[in-house]
Amino acid sequence: MIAPSILSADFAHLGRAAEAVERADWLHVDVMDNHFVPNLTIGLPVVKSLRQATDLPLDCHLMIEDPDRWAPGYAEAGATNVTFHVEAAREPAEVAAKIRGAGALAGLSVKPGTPIEPYLELLTHFDTVLIMSVEPGFGGQKFMPGVLDKVRLLRDRIDAGQLRLFLEIDGGIAEDTIEQAAEAGVDVFVAGSAVYERDDPGAAVELLRGLARAGMTRCARRAGRL
Ligand code: DX5
Ligand code: ZN
Repeated sequence: MIAPSILSADFAHLGRAAEAVERADWLHVDVMDNHFVPNLTIGLPVVKSLRQATDLPLDCHLMIEDPDRWAPGYAEAGATNVTFHVEAAREPAEVAAKIRGAGALAGLSVKPGTPIEPYLELLTHFDTVLIMSVEPGFGGQKFMPGVLDKVRLLRDRIDAGQLRLFLEIDGGIAEDTIEQAAEAGVDVFVAGSAVYERDDPGAAVELLRGLARAGMTRCARRAGRL
């Protein structure tokens, strides 16, 4: 799946930004509070308005302190997937249960420097795992290929039937990086600048999708799934 990030879109015309990528799979919405990350973006009222403005499933990525308090509200607002950071949560399994209870998928995200091994058991409470491939906070940063070790580890657990999760990557995903991420086992690709800084964002989504498919095929062959 391709999930364009509206962080790189024109914030004065978010409805149009959604329309421009109507053939994408999810619309990625970066919520930042200027505490968990050094940047401030949008919050619940904008997500509610977006829910009215587009039929695309909303993939809310909460880069905020105290997700225990705030995350379920995004599910209640109609998000399809609500991801929060393990570094910020007090009771992540409880938060996931509340998100699911409000009808959304629950996602857990880790920053590039956070290992995934300590959280493998916790991930049984989630539907999505989001591997950050840049330091969260800003679009347009350089992809960190070292995080693909975490992707490979998770892909092996998923293929072995130990976890059932969407494996999502976020940060620096573009024409020159998406194939290696797909080959490592990613199945949801967030792309901000590689979609909205192109002349035709819709065509950029299709280009990324084609490149991802090529990498995913190689991943499946390696795992003996093809
Ligand atoms: C960064 C955000 C990303 C951002 C990615 O903290 O979580 O979703 O929009 O932007 P690009 O694709 O430009 O790296
Ligand atoms: Zn994001």
